[in-house]
Amino acid sequence: MAYFSDMRVLITGAGTGIGELLAQTLATHGAEVLVSARRLAAAEEVVTKIKARGGRAEAIVMDVADRASIEAAKVYIHAEFGPIDALINNAGVVFGGTFEDVPLDQHINTFQINSIGLMSACHAFFNDLIASRRGHLVNIASASAFVGLPFGSSYAASKWAVVGFSESLRLELKERGIDNVAVTTVCPSYISTGMFDGAKAPLLTPMLTPEKVVRATLGAMRQKTPMLYLPITVKSADLFKGALPRKMWDEVAKFTGVSGSMRHWQGKEK
Ligand SMILES: NC(=O)c1ccc[n+]([C@@H]2O[C@H](COP(=O)([O-])OP(=O)(O)OC[C@H]3O[C@@H](n4cnc5c(N)ncnc54)[C@H](OP(=O)(O)O)[C@@H]3O)[C@@H](O)[C@H]2O)c1
Repeated sequence: MAYFSDMRVLITGAGTGIGELLAQTLATHGAEVLVSARRLAAAEEVVTKIKARGGRAEAIVMDVADRASIEAAKVYIHAEFGPIDALINNAGVVFGGTFEDVPLDQHINTFQINSIGLMSACHAFFNDLIASRRGHLVNIASASAFVGLPFGSSYAASKWAVVGFSESLRLELKERGIDNVAVTTVCPSYISTGMFDGAKAPLLTPMLTPEKVVRATLGAMRQKTPMLYLPITVKSADLFKGALPRKMWDEVAKFTGVSGSMRHWQGKEK
């Protein structure tokens, strides 16, 4: 039986980008995909495309910044479909710019969605994962979870939080002897989805395609890989930052273009 066959997978922020492509690809591999988005129309569009190709998918409204919305989605999912096997926390936002020029509301919103929303979705569905014989939690973090990201400070901080949260949960499951739930944290550098339009990919970390990220994420799920670095040079950034004196690391980050990569961020046209 194919690995994803009949796996019920809930994906957050699946109306666009990586979330949408994950939904489409998992459906082609036999998963039953619960496509969630904060706007129903966005989720429904993705579901229509999946069904047109013979896949199984359902549209769910879920705003991860809103606890009531997460709870309502959980009640609806349990009543209509049953407990999920896998949760992919993909929803995310970024507001780039000079720290003090970005409105505080946007910095706070970044944490509300990228960190607190992710943790809230986990909390709502964690018992489902534990009850599943093949539970899987996938958290989409970022390469910026390991390095400082000038002009994207709240985004980087929100993703550092995701890595700390994911790693802690993974170890907690181990401590509890729960071996039927895998945790995978995905840490990609820049991807050409539009979210980081205007940003300049650093040396040795070329702009990734959504297809590459999705392929690698599914591979990491199959292998139950705890931490997926994309590309692998992201791992070396983590190692170098830990090993080098901080002043020397600052120079490396500057030379490779990590520090200046967000200077001209524009983001998506909304
Ligand atoms: N693109 C990159 O370079 C890059 C690199 C590393 C990591 N990532 C991470 O990858 C993930 C996917 O990003 P992407 O590149 O595919 O960009 P994207 O197309 O903008 O996807 C982000 C999705 O999150 C959704 N979302 C935002 N706030 C939400 C909320 N409160 N509740 C539910 N959904 C919400 C958005 O929905 P709306 O359309 O309604 O706003 C959108 O569908 C994010 O977590 C991002 O941080 C991206």
